[in-house]
Amino acid sequence: MPTGNYWTAPAPVIIAITSQRDLDCKLSDKRDYFLFDCGIAVGNLMIQATEMGLIAHPIAGYNPMKIKEILKIPADYVLITLVIVAHPGDPATLSKDHRVVELGERIRKPLVEVMARNQFIAEA
Ligand SMILES: Cc1cc2nc3c(=O)[nH]c(=O)nc-3n(C[C@H](O)[C@H](O)[C@H](O)COP(=O)(O)O)c2cc1C
Repeated sequence: MPTGNYWTAPAPVIIAITSQRDLDCKLSDKRDYFLFDCGIAVGNLMIQATEMGLIAHPIAGYNPMKIKEILKIPADYVLITLVIVAHPGDPATLSKDHRVVELGERIRKPLVEVMARNQFIAEA
């Protein structure tokens, strides 16, 4: 793991999410659905983990080629994310910056900034 993802080290389980574009439907206008479907699966996995009192964080900060080699994942598969699964830890083990985020209020953008009605509006 890169040093920024030091917090993953104590996790007992890391799930590698990998797929290949031919394993799902490929439609016009670049609608390759394999990434979308893996996203749905990970979302449900995170909800279930939460239900079970666990924490599940997807991460993108890793060396995909190295992990694909270690896990013997074929070259044409995309290693989309690693999901770090663990029991809640002690915030005192986090860096100061991570502790602030972990213990801070969850801030959501107002709906008006993330949706448009009837026509596409690019994010400002
Ligand atoms: C696609 C994706 C990649 C992410 N990559 C990282 C990462 O490499 N390192 C990291 O600390 N958090 C990463 N995160 C954020 C964590 O998964 C998590 O969302 C964050 O710790 C806040 O979670 P919480 O608000 O549920 O506590 C990533 C999130 C997403 C959706």
